Amino acid sequence: MRAGGGFDPPFRFADLRRDNGDAHAGLRAGLLAAQAAIPAKYFYDALGSRLFAAICCLPEYPLTRSEARLFAERGDEIAAAAGRGRLLIDLGAGDCGKAERLFPLLAPAGYIALDISADFLREALGGLCRRFPELPVTGVALDFMRGLNFPEDLLAPAQAPRLWFYPGSSIGNFAPEEARAFLSRIAHAGGALLIGVDLVKDKAALEAAYDDALGVTAAFNLNVLRHVNRLLPADFDVADWRHVAFFDAAASRIEMHLEARRNLEVRLAGQPRRFAAGERIHTEDSYKWTPDGFAALLEQAGFARPRIWQDDGGGFALFLAGPA
Ligand code: TRP
Repeated sequence: MRAGGGFDPPFRFADLRRDNGDAHAGLRAGLLAAQAAIPAKYFYDALGSRLFAAICCLPEYPLTRSEARLFAERGDEIAAAAGRGRLLIDLGAGDCGKAERLFPLLAPAGYIALDISADFLREALGGLCRRFPELPVTGVALDFMRGLNFPEDLLAPAQAPRLWFYPGSSIGNFAPEEARAFLSRIAHAGGALLIGVDLVKDKAALEAAYDDALGVTAAFNLNVLRHVNRLLPADFDVADWRHVAFFDAAASRIEMHLEARRNLEVRLAGQPRRFAAGERIHTEDSYKWTPDGFAALLEQAGFARPRIWQDDGGGFALFLAGPA
């Protein structure tokens, strides 16, 4: 409960993004490298966020629906295992909708929402606090994929056991070694972890999920070039590029690229960069796990053996892991 009544801001907010100096140095360096790459966070401009929301409605991309169904049908069981009265820490909160739907089941003692998109998060938390006026809420704007360093006193109420919440399989965007490092940072911070993971499945189904018939995923991938044009600036012509996505079974990952349709030259913040026809810009990897493989990863990261809930098709799973 907040002291002082109606004039207090309804939630605490800390902006811990540190892109003072040259915000897009990494982007420029990635594009000028011999094997060009664009960091995946640049997908999410205003149109990119909408295109991603559209991807989640595609029949080829069942992940979001599988997860929602698991929470709807097994939520009681999951909440009973996770426990009520936890401090719920949401990694990549977005509109906070996934967490909010769990509030009635989890009855959290407090809610900490982390996201890279500060303005979007502030707005979402404003609405949330009107619906849950008694819940202590903190927003933290942070690129947490680069590290989980934030002041301990943001984790309030401090005495409540922590439940880290990482839905939607973003963990798949880390290579296995990075994923283990990220998970052990969470394990070290203390508490339990509830995490969504997309599973290895049929190659054709996996590839369709990242190259759908309507071309929404292609548009999403190509749109990153327009975002980069505005940021650097640069002069990519979307028509010169093609969306490429394929499953590498040996590495157990989907790779996403943009491939040049012809020999061309782009100006990147005033610097010329040639691309040969067929040359690719790497935009994202999405690793797929087996239930056993991910359970082992959690244990290597310092958690106890997890509980696992899988959807009916076996394509997606939620893992709940406590401290070892
Ligand atoms: N990172 C998410 C995933 O791997 C989002 C995503 C879905 C995505 N489709 C994409 C990222 C296509 C890049 C390109 O599932």
